[in-house]
Amino acid sequence: MGTLKGLPFALFLIGGASALLAQSPTYGVGRAPTAEELRAWDISIGPTGEELPPGRGTAKDGAPVYRAKCGSCHGATGIGGSAPILKSRAPKDDELWSRGRILPLRSPFAVLVWDYINRAMPLNREGTLTPDEVYALTAFLLFINDLVPEDQILDAQSLPKVKMPIGDAYAPLPDWKPRTPRLKGYPY
Ligand code: HEC
Repeated sequence: MGTLKGLPFALFLIGGASALLAQSPTYGVGRAPTAEELRAWDISIGPTGEELPPGRGTAKDGAPVYRAKCGSCHGATGIGGSAPILKSRAPKDDELWSRGRILPLRSPFAVLVWDYINRAMPLNREGTLTPDEVYALTAFLLFINDLVPEDQILDAQSLPKVKMPIGDAYAPLPDWKPRTPRLKGYPY
C-alpha cells in the first residue's frame, strides 16, 4: 500500500523535473566566446598531426632552447632535475619499461610530445613557446632518446611519421582477464 501511496508523488516529481527541463530558463549570465578566444583555446593536436602549425626545428636547434627554458627543472641532460625525467636511465634493452612516464620515449605518437610541450611547458609559462621552438624541443627530446638523428628536421609533415618504439603495445588485449596485464606487451 505504502508504495502505491508514494507513486503519485513520485510521478509529480518526475513530471515537475521534465517541465523544468523543457522550459530551459535563461539566467542572463555568460556570453558566447569570440572567434579569437576560441582560437586561443582550440590548440589540441590529434595523433595524425593534421592540426600542427607551420614551423620546423632540429635537435641541434632545440639544445640551446632546452638549456635556457627546461634544464633548470628537468636537469641538463633530461635526468637529475626536480621535474620528471625526460630520458631513460635504464639499460637500452629495458628502457621502454623503465620507471617514469618518459613521454618522449613512451608516447604512442610523436605528435603527442609536441602537443604536450606546446600546451603545458615550461611549467608556469605555458603558451610562451613559438611553434619553431616546440618543433626543436620535440626533436631534441626524441634525439636524446635515440629516436631521431640530431639533424633531422621535424615539421608538420615529418613529425607524424616518426615511429615510436612502443608500437601498438598500448592496444588493449581483446581476451583480457582480471589480474593479468591489460595491454599488449606492457609487463605490469
Ligand atoms: C618550473 C619547472 C619546469 C620547467 C621550467 C619545465 N618543466 Fe616540464 N615538467 C615539469 C613538471 C613538474 C612536470 C610534470 C607535470 C605533471 O606531471 O603534471 C613536467 C612534465 C614535462 C613533460 C612530460 C614528462 C612525462 O614523461 O610525463 C615533458 C615532455 C616536459 N615537461 C617538457 C618540458 C620542456 C620541453 C620544457 C622547456 C620548454 C619544460 N618541460 C620546462 C616542470 C617543468
